[in-house]
Amino acid sequence: MILASLILAALIGLVPAPVEYSPERSRTCFRKAIEQLEPWQKEEAYRITIRGQKVKVEALTEEGRFRAQTTLEQLRALGELPEGTILDYPRLRHRGLMIDESRSFKGLEFLKKQIDAMALLKLNVLHLHLDDSAGWRMEIDSYPLLTEKTAFRVGYTYHEWEAGKYKFTSAEDPAGYGGFYSKAELRELVEYAAKRFITVIPEIEMPGHSMEVGYAYPEVLCTLEDGTLCRGAWDLCPGSEATYRLLESVLSEVMEVFPSEFIHIGGDEATMKTWPGCPKCRALMEREGYTSVKQLQGHLVRRIEAFVRSHGRRIIGWDEILETGVPEGAVVQSWRGVSGGQKASALGHDVVMSPNTHLYLDYYQDLIRKEPKAVGALTSLRWVYGYEPLAPGMAPEHLLGIQGNLWCELIPTPEHAEYMLYPRAFAIAETAWSPSSAKDWESFYRRTRALLEVFHRRGYKSFDLDTESDLSRSGCRTWEEYDAYLKN
Ligand code: ACM
Ligand code: ZN
Repeated sequence: MILASLILAALIGLVPAPVEYSPERSRTCFRKAIEQLEPWQKEEAYRITIRGQKVKVEALTEEGRFRAQTTLEQLRALGELPEGTILDYPRLRHRGLMIDESRSFKGLEFLKKQIDAMALLKLNVLHLHLDDSAGWRMEIDSYPLLTEKTAFRVGYTYHEWEAGKYKFTSAEDPAGYGGFYSKAELRELVEYAAKRFITVIPEIEMPGHSMEVGYAYPEVLCTLEDGTLCRGAWDLCPGSEATYRLLESVLSEVMEVFPSEFIHIGGDEATMKTWPGCPKCRALMEREGYTSVKQLQGHLVRRIEAFVRSHGRRIIGWDEILETGVPEGAVVQSWRGVSGGQKASALGHDVVMSPNTHLYLDYYQDLIRKEPKAVGALTSLRWVYGYEPLAPGMAPEHLLGIQGNLWCELIPTPEHAEYMLYPRAFAIAETAWSPSSAKDWESFYRRTRALLEVFHRRGYKSFDLDTESDLSRSGCRTWEEYDAYLKN
């Protein structure tokens, strides 16, 4: 039913085939053909009928029509418009990429360029990691020091900044590195993405990964018993009202700019180191009867979730939010493998799967000796393609989607970011769109080679499949696995 083999065979920039689009006439018959689908699938579903030079597109929405146009571009890329009918719709609702703009700031043109690529891949969510200890990247009117004091740093790369003991500087410093997005730029980005049926989901990190917030506004820091500020702390103080004033004010401005249903509130890797010694944290624990500082994280997440929900939105949090009483309605993003997704789904939560075992695009895509320094284990194209999102025991109705994450501690330039994204994002896109039964490695690999040529012509950098090692090409992760693979 789904022509999976066409999904990635794209050629961009060709004038699409003449299209007859008459929603009224086609509605009844097409509706019947897709009546078994979920409502969100119907939004994106389309049918293309090709008879000679005549091409007919049926879709219930402009979004469905847009997806059909993309497929027609792909067909033309193959140099043919085969006679017949294609009925197509996505497997998953959330098909995303995350880009870390804090550790390296890449700018509006870079993001628009990746949105163009995402549209071509039928991806539909761009998750922006807008702040982290290495710098705040969104203009906030009510807390202007966030960008004035932390959007520029001393140290071109994240690790130079770390080695220099986390120093920030001003925009005027010619040796400073960084930048931030004005609200006008972010609105422009949201609109640019929306025209391509891509939602931009902003992430504001809390309570960990937040050194820069405490640097700009020390009132969000824990203190010692004698009132000394815990300067340089990684975590915000969950016992201080100043923390909630800042977060709620920031989130209000974020929600004005980003109309997305989901607002990501981070929630990962809080160290909680300063909380036990902080009188404000201890007072909150006593008031609430908490027996562990971990419960302070749950307190903060629940309070922020209620705030976001009161604005008609839903939160997404990294899977640590499961450990401290995840609020009803919150979406859990499973990153430490798949167990967070399994647990969240069992509790009735919707889940976005981005396990670091398969979908972390800052991990090596080939042998360490031939690749730029990267973070984790070998995560080759074939390995990524082999990922099945529905982990054992997970309820399909709670699987919102999947997402590749591009953390940028070791990725200082836009070119390097593209090198890590492509073609592995192609594999994520196909897994998110096509049913697992329609996936076929050989076919995908052939189409990937063709699509990479298109990407190169359009100025994208990519990993070079010509130089890929046999180990990576096999989809194995170790030489021992590879030996066993050769024997079979
Ligand atoms: C994460 O990778 N810390 C979500
Ligand atoms: Zn505190």
